[in-house]
Amino acid sequence: MELSSTSASLLLILLLTLVYFLYLHQDPKKKPRTHGLKSYPVVGTLPHFINNKDRFLEWSTGVMKRSPTHTMSFKELGLTGGVITANPANVEHILKANFGNYPKGELAVSLLEDFLGHGIFNSDGEQWLWQRKAASYEFNKRSLRNFVVDTVRFEVVERLLPLLEYAGRHGRTLDVQDVLERFAFDNICRVAFDEDPACLTEESMAAPQSAEFMRAFNDAQNAILDRFNSPAKSLWRIKKLFNMEPERRMRDSLATIHGYAERIVRERRERREARLERRDDFLSRFAASGEHSDESLRDVVTNFILAGRDTTSSALTWFFWLLSGRPDVEDKIVREIRAVRQSSAGSEGTRGATFSLDELRDMQYLHAAITESMRLYPPVPFDTHSCKEEEFLPDGTFAGKGWLVTYCAYAMGRVEDIWGADCEEFRPERWLDEAGAFRSESTFKYPVFHAGPRMCLGKEMAYIQMKSIVACVLEQFSLRYAGDAKGHPGLVVALTLRMEGGLPMKVTIRE
Ligand code: HEM
Repeated sequence: MELSSTSASLLLILLLTLVYFLYLHQDPKKKPRTHGLKSYPVVGTLPHFINNKDRFLEWSTGVMKRSPTHTMSFKELGLTGGVITANPANVEHILKANFGNYPKGELAVSLLEDFLGHGIFNSDGEQWLWQRKAASYEFNKRSLRNFVVDTVRFEVVERLLPLLEYAGRHGRTLDVQDVLERFAFDNICRVAFDEDPACLTEESMAAPQSAEFMRAFNDAQNAILDRFNSPAKSLWRIKKLFNMEPERRMRDSLATIHGYAERIVRERRERREARLERRDDFLSRFAASGEHSDESLRDVVTNFILAGRDTTSSALTWFFWLLSGRPDVEDKIVREIRAVRQSSAGSEGTRGATFSLDELRDMQYLHAAITESMRLYPPVPFDTHSCKEEEFLPDGTFAGKGWLVTYCAYAMGRVEDIWGADCEEFRPERWLDEAGAFRSESTFKYPVFHAGPRMCLGKEMAYIQMKSIVACVLEQFSLRYAGDAKGHPGLVVALTLRMEGGLPMKVTIRE
């Protein structure tokens, strides 16, 4: 009895010491700051995170909006600490001023390694730098731009417009999110390695291997998301060891993805060795130097597919939904498309064809409308980095060594200090000068394409694709939301921002 009361006292002292060191004995400046949230002893603000885990984006946005510096930070129990910010000065510091202190980090790299290898998305330091240089060189070539225009033209004219025409004539409702995702997958596979998976055609017409490739890519992305969302970041290794879901499916998916990509890499190498004509896709461009192993070329393929597929489809899904509720904006876009068509083809116009690079460049209002839509619904709503050495961010928030430091582009679009009192309104005009020309903004206020040395390389390619699709579609069709008109569609934060349950749309053919 005496022994057990001594042990109980010892345990209590130990616990109190632990609480003191973990919680009370903290430099007040280094204490996590989460404005307006009740902090509980020992567990701190953790209960709020647990309660809001199913609507984390909306909830954390509310917290950041209310915070005086638009930043929240947390460090509970033994868990990894974190900062989430919607403050442009912090964003500039993380992405540019102290870039070296905020790599992707070992944790993120290890979670993605079996899927993306050490490709451009999943590497830091020298390993990232050489890939960045090689890719930037290719992205800046006119020949790549022209190749992208050609691949988009094919997909729009041969697949997208006929699909909409059919839906319009037969009064069918289409899931536009699904259509856009298939479009983007076909398109990025053509640009990455000049293969056409034909996912936007009827199911039966798609090559079975390609349909399987797309399915495997979806499964692998879901398994990766599961790894990121798990509070215990090593749990996936145990699931993998014991072949449990979703790691079992991940293993099968990776076999399919890597098998498919390796076949293409092999063929491309054989083409080069046989001195056959070089193609314009990314893989051929990278393979041409003969410097890269088959494995690193395979990683080039998977990394570019991941970068280019769900981003543009996410952006356009939200764009078409916003436009459906704003016929005034749609009207201005249609008038601009018709004016561009007429000025380059005379008063007759050439309905049905796609648009040239110069014609797309002339569509300034459309450019503003797509940019404005992504301000409110950024395809990549959160972007996380790891903090190498502890420091204070420009707004005074402490970031500890090993903490995860995230900026939230979604919250930034909703902060009055950044965009003014009408920040929640969809208003393309905020991007136009008096002459109606597009006026860009600081990338640290609008980090939708990231910013600093790791800024998105595909931004121009993405605008070509998005403007082409919207201009060709709206010239001939009007799309109306067929879901619950009063409610707001649910947000799904997968690797990109998706719409819960898809985007049902009624298609009308314009007279
Ligand atoms: C609306 C469309 C797009 C948006 C909003 C977007 C956004 C982003 C963001 C936020 C990042 C940083 C991600 C990170 O480091 O965690 C990024 C990186 C990147 N994006 Fe995009 N992206 C888009 C389309 C594309 C397309 C079509 C491509 C072409 C394949 C592309 C290629 C890349 C590449 C290669 C990187 C990595 C850059 C690096 O780490 O150095 N993106 N993009």
